[in-house]
Amino acid sequence: MKTATKRKRKTPATFGEEYRSAFDEYARDGGEAALGRAYELGRRAITEKKSLMEITSLHHQALHGMLAEAQGAARHQELLTAAAEFLAETLSPYEMAHRGVQDAIGALRQLNETLEEEIKRIAYAVHDEAGQLLVAVHLALVEVARELPERQKEQLGRIEELLKQVEKQLRRYSHELRPTVLDDLGWIPAIRFLAEGVAKRGGLSVKVKTAVTGRLPSQVEIALYRVIQEALTNATKHAKASRVWIWIGRQNRMLKCSIEDDGKGFDIRATQSDRKRRGLGLSGMRERLNAIGGTLSIDSAPGRGTKLLIQLPTEASNANSHRAR
Ligand SMILES: Nc1ncnc2c1ncn2[C@@H]1O[C@H](COP(=O)(O)OP(=O)(O)OP(=O)(O)O)[C@@H](O)[C@H]1O
Ligand SMILES: [Mg+2]
Repeated sequence: MKTATKRKRKTPATFGEEYRSAFDEYARDGGEAALGRAYELGRRAITEKKSLMEITSLHHQALHGMLAEAQGAARHQELLTAAAEFLAETLSPYEMAHRGVQDAIGALRQLNETLEEEIKRIAYAVHDEAGQLLVAVHLALVEVARELPERQKEQLGRIEELLKQVEKQLRRYSHELRPTVLDDLGWIPAIRFLAEGVAKRGGLSVKVKTAVTGRLPSQVEIALYRVIQEALTNATKHAKASRVWIWIGRQNRMLKCSIEDDGKGFDIRATQSDRKRRGLGLSGMRERLNAIGGTLSIDSAPGRGTKLLIQLPTEASNANSHRAR
């Protein structure tokens, strides 16, 4: 009878084993090849989502073991130098990734600034150009009215009334698009102004409650305004809510702002994985907040309304910080 000899499959080395082996090689022989292994280990650590604490703790343990076995002060010194070089090489991919993120955030900020300039331009165009055109229409109507009999004059009067409403609405839109109150008085009065307009137009109640006063750096105020603006648009457009509550406060060194509606709610996962249903609003909110160091969490389910929570570390939202205008 044949006896089958089963070969043991070699399991791949764990990150810790690889690290100790490469570190050992570098501490013993030095050389570029071992440093190359350190760099590759750094890349692997990022892929495996190892924290910097895990790596430094692993490094510390390995070094501790080596120092215990090493003889003499000179060898200890050599080991310490090699350890610093090896660790620096392992962490260099983290450094590069960090710089990459910083660059991306910088680009995002720039993009938002360009977008804000464009919004300003459109807001002024709606306000000034459309406004002037409407004035011209009013004047033309007055001319026409002069030559009309009384009954038709009345009809023209009704058209005048409608035009006045269009003008008022356009002015309101242009102010909400880029409220001067945002620059002059800050984000909280601007949000109150916006909430009032949304409530009137949408026929819903929008309550703003805040325990926060003072100004924030201008790019932070603009980002918060844009995020809340989109949240209110979604609450009227999708949720068909009858009530919205905006709460702004500080908790545990964080500026927090929640926007809650009593509308129809939605399945967050299904929406985000469905390309057709995925709009720009929610991802735009996240990007705006990322660019200022903040986060957005969403709590919603069909039939349960929606609650958005914005969180911003106090350092980023410090009211006394330099106003970058
Ligand atoms: N407050 C809400 N209540 C109910 N559904 C919501 C709410 N907010 C978002 N949604 C759902 O999530 C989807 C994605 O929202 P998002 O703001 O990203 O895009 P959009 O509003 O559809 O389009 P865009 O914002 O680009 O104009 C919406 O289509 C809607 O189905
Ligand atoms: Mg939207």
